[in-house]
Amino acid sequence: MKVNPNHYVRREFDRYANEYHEKRLDPKKSPFNYYIENPVMERILKPIVKGRKSLELGCGTGIFLKKVQSWGGEVDGVDISEKQIEIARRENPDAKFYVCDVDYLKTSFGKYDIVYSSLMLHYLDDLDKLFFNVARALKDFGRFVFSFHHPFSEIMDEVKVKNKVYNVPKNYFTTRRYRWGMIGMQLHSYHHTFEQITQSMKKHGFLIEEILEPQAPEDKISREITIPPFCVISSVFFRD
Ligand SMILES: C[S@@+](CC[C@H](N)C(=O)[O-])C[C@H]1O[C@@H](n2cnc3c(N)ncnc32)[C@H](O)[C@@H]1O
Repeated sequence: MKVNPNHYVRREFDRYANEYHEKRLDPKKSPFNYYIENPVMERILKPIVKGRKSLELGCGTGIFLKKVQSWGGEVDGVDISEKQIEIARRENPDAKFYVCDVDYLKTSFGKYDIVYSSLMLHYLDDLDKLFFNVARALKDFGRFVFSFHHPFSEIMDEVKVKNKVYNVPKNYFTTRRYRWGMIGMQLHSYHHTFEQITQSMKKHGFLIEEILEPQAPEDKISREITIPPFCVISSVFFRD
């Protein structure tokens, strides 16, 4: 029997739910989230969520969702991992959460003003499915804001020569699954090119407002980062 690869991601986020939550709560253990990715998501979402209905895809334990609530937004959360959602429910008793693989997301038609997603998109093989499902969930002129592993960072291999580490790029154009990990988790993600991502968005009615490649503030992350770890895209949805 063929196992859906998303099952492995769910298994790891279930297994390490407590450790992941603890890591995400601590800026020292998650500096890339706190100082590189979150500030950009915050800059885009904070001014627009108040009084609006949002949906967070891959909400994990609901840490960012709590912020959106504190800015006056009404948010539902979706995640494939039951254990992450258990913590999210405990930490955010006023929000609604659904255990769901976004590949099979079926919300009411045009239910949300905003859909956003923090560092989940790279787990998906089929982006067409995602943009189709998000388009279904959004109102006309709704917003889709998401962050993901920067496509350029995904093709880098670290090669050590005489105790020096060099970044060597693999073929950018080959879409492939790659393995990586954090806090003991064994994860895989998918490399998609910018053209594949943006063409799929165009096909489903998303007009891009901004493509951002956030950098680390020097006072927070001391080591030099020469390749953007993340990309953030903000878009507006137009129904045909
Ligand atoms: C790196 S975590 C980010 C969690 C949260 N957004 C945060 O910033 O802390 C990625 C999340 O995406 C979820 N995820 C991965 N693949 C998914 C899928 N196919 N459907 C729904 N959630 C998924 C994982 O379970 C995990 O909670």
